[in-house]
Amino acid sequence: MTAERIGAVIDALPLPVLLIGPDERVRAANSMVDSILGPELIGKHHITALRQPAIIAAIAETSRTQDPRVARYTGRHGPKDTVYRVSVAAAEGDILLTFEDQTAAEEAGQMRRDFVANVSHELRTPLTALLGFIETLSGAAKEDPVARDRFLGIMAHEANRMTRLVDDLMSLSRVEEDERVRPREHVDLSALLSSVIKGLEPQVNAAGVTVTLDLVTSDEMVQGDAGQLVQVFTNLVENAIKYGASGEEVTVQLLPRAMNQRLRCDAIQIKVTDKGDGIAEHHIARLTERFYRVDNHRSREVGGTGLGLAIVKHIINRHRGRLLIESEEGRGTQVSVFLPVGPVA
Ligand SMILES: Nc1ncnc2c1ncn2[C@@H]1O[C@H](COP(=O)(O)OP(=O)(O)O)[C@@H](O)[C@H]1O
Ligand SMILES: [Mg+2]
Repeated sequence: MTAERIGAVIDALPLPVLLIGPDERVRAANSMVDSILGPELIGKHHITALRQPAIIAAIAETSRTQDPRVARYTGRHGPKDTVYRVSVAAAEGDILLTFEDQTAAEEAGQMRRDFVANVSHELRTPLTALLGFIETLSGAAKEDPVARDRFLGIMAHEANRMTRLVDDLMSLSRVEEDERVRPREHVDLSALLSSVIKGLEPQVNAAGVTVTLDLVTSDEMVQGDAGQLVQVFTNLVENAIKYGASGEEVTVQLLPRAMNQRLRCDAIQIKVTDKGDGIAEHHIARLTERFYRVDNHRSREVGGTGLGLAIVKHIINRHRGRLLIESEEGRGTQVSVFLPVGPVA
């Protein structure tokens, strides 16, 4: 094949491809390689073009044995390193390199590992406490009914915490699973919000707050999953009670439909407002990450798992809506959910 024809063939391939000739110099490279190794590669010695020991060693091995090899190559051109899996294969005296971008796969792997580490850590804390109390109860506190009752109370509390964590984890995985399936029920939002607030009465009374439902509009129907929307608003109102209770007043507003620029369609806004301590700016963008909490200790104390807003975010995504968190330290927090209405796809 002429150099021109080889160039045309590899240019048509959907992956970055580089061909090294028997003289060890770059014989052909498609344009996708330029973004990894830079331009004007043809004729360069492959060591000068590639510069990374792992891949140079793989090329040497393949040209010696004619067997294919795989090596890692780190691209350092963008703002972040890109990791490639490079296949090195012998091709009639030439060596053919194919680059596959592994960054997304490696990031997913890292996220999975972090997630497992987080879950283990969250479960270990209550488990350690439980084991400690079991030991105390079977030894020192065996004959002490007062201590026994107190310890059993703490044990129940820790066990409940583990249950909540497992429930939230299962919820999260279920929500992630059907995130791409469009919900089909027709949901009456004012009725749904009333029932959410009613369901939270015990927490409301215990915290000594008043929760006001302000139906600026009513009879608004959205296409949604009622069970999941209950989960969303329960979490938001519960957060307002738990973390914003110092303000003693929580308002839930159902606002009339209006054009939403971000969603590019009409949307209904449901806004949960508290007058609590608020959230510092730099935390806000991270609140929907799994296990992210502003104050770990406080969240655990009030029974939080750190998964609530992650679940909320997934559910709203499934409804093609939007979550907006606005907060001012010392003044309170407003969390809005925008749900699209009107012409549905
Ligand atoms: N209304 C609020 N006011 C202040 N902080 C809040 C509010 N809502 C959420 N947060 C913060 O965001 C964190 C994440 O919330 P969430 O995911 O629901 O977890 P959890 O409630 O289990 O702690 C909370 O731990 C809390 O620090
Ligand atoms: Mg929560």
